[in-house]
Amino acid sequence: MIGVLASGSGTNLQALLDAGLPVVAVASNRRYAAALGRAPDVATAAFELADYPDRETRDSAMADWLEEQGVTLVVLAGYMHLLTNAFLDRFPNAVVNVHPSLLPEFPGAHAVEEQLAAGIAESGATVHLVDEGVDSGPILAQERVPVLSGDTPETLHARIKEIEHRLLPRVVEELCAR
Ligand code: GRF
Repeated sequence: MIGVLASGSGTNLQALLDAGLPVVAVASNRRYAAALGRAPDVATAAFELADYPDRETRDSAMADWLEEQGVTLVVLAGYMHLLTNAFLDRFPNAVVNVHPSLLPEFPGAHAVEEQLAAGIAESGATVHLVDEGVDSGPILAQERVPVLSGDTPETLHARIKEIEHRLLPRVVEELCAR
């Protein structure tokens, strides 16, 4: 049973739903994230940091809620906050993230812009297990895409997302079959 955390548009969440994967809950750190509207038949909730005294308390509340929904595997699909151990310890080896670069190169929130600025010829997408670091857990799968001359952050990110939308459901399906 999959719980998805998302902060933004939720196209990767959509790919999981379209693949027929058992998504039972979607949570966000942003009350108005578009991702929350993508799964009308699934339980949704927002856990905004401003509503809690600290990150650990927020993360514990989010883990409690996911557990109540029966979640056993957590997928970060554009979730833009770091998770504390108060969350990660609740789902050992069962939190995965998708990131728009060939990790360990270009971790962090501005990976697409930084890859363009660096002038690299090849980018890609990575799915990895999540630890407390920034995009630093063990890598599960990667796929490459070319960087084309004339690429903008938008065109490159769109090309990477095409890959993500295939790679993430495939890896999540494999994890569900474990
Ligand atoms: C994706 O590029 C993902 O790799 C990154 O955030 C983006 C989320 O996009 N972590 P979306 O909200 O799934 O469209």
